[in-house]
Amino acid sequence: MPYNACMSASSRHLLTTEHLSVDQVQSLFQRAEDLNGKYSPADLKKILLGQFVVNLFFNDSTRTRISFEIAAKRLGADVINVAIDRSSLNKGETFLDMLQNIQAMGASCFVIRHPETGILKELAPHLRIPVINAGDGNNEHPTQGLLDVMTMRRHKKNINGLTIAICGDIAHSRVARSNIPILLKMGAKVRVIAPQSMMPPNYFGGQVQSFTDLRAGIKDADIVMMLRIQKERMQTDEVPNEREYAFHYGLDMEKLKLAKPDVLVMHPGPMNRGVEIDSAVADNPKHSIILDQVSMGVAMRMAILEWILAGK
Ligand code: CP
Repeated sequence: MPYNACMSASSRHLLTTEHLSVDQVQSLFQRAEDLNGKYSPADLKKILLGQFVVNLFFNDSTRTRISFEIAAKRLGADVINVAIDRSSLNKGETFLDMLQNIQAMGASCFVIRHPETGILKELAPHLRIPVINAGDGNNEHPTQGLLDVMTMRRHKKNINGLTIAICGDIAHSRVARSNIPILLKMGAKVRVIAPQSMMPPNYFGGQVQSFTDLRAGIKDADIVMMLRIQKERMQTDEVPNEREYAFHYGLDMEKLKLAKPDVLVMHPGPMNRGVEIDSAVADNPKHSIILDQVSMGVAMRMAILEWILAGK
């Protein structure tokens, strides 16, 4: 079977948002809305009855792992959370052997978070069952990208023409890398804001506007998405002084006034309050939709699991 990085009939892996069409994205949004509100719990449970979703998280996670588990269980699937540190990887087994063995037991799909950029793209062609990327290194976090844009669309109705400012550690952000292809295809104007040290060169081939000044970058924005500093992916000498970073790149109510009056604030989590975002912004009922993102995470992951496992 030829490797296909997107979800398609020939290969149902979801490793990136890069190849998703606007129609596929819109279908997922609609299906997530339906699964979130139009079914009784008993009817939802019939959708993936008898399927086994296997979670393998090599890095810490709260939102992604738990929302995949809730989404799968709502649809009737069984969920296995593999305790990586108690697995036979410790006895010298390769990761691919481990996956092929779990596949041989009858698993239906893998949800994997791994620190190595690109590892899932290498392994997926050697597996018969689908792989969902729950974050690989600095690369992508496609289910987060989909749930983020779905949350934006719920609040703003139309993504086309919106100015969306993504601010923080762009260089190490798989969230930004998975949001941007969807946003560009849907007609948004995307800005990225970061200190020079956290700004990749020629990011998205010039399709996004780059700023090193937060105030200039969020001016008249419709949506501001804040990102934390990904210290775990930096060398010690790359980690900035938090107080200095917060002064220049922390979003507070005074800076937020430069954006549109009805600006929405997002954050994929986990937040570092007082560093990239002030509590007055994060908890602001008029502007913050951060917990809506989390709720939509369950809805979107139900739609993704159904699409991948039930072929809908
Ligand atoms: N947004 C996100 O990936 O959060 P977790 O690391 O808690 O899963």
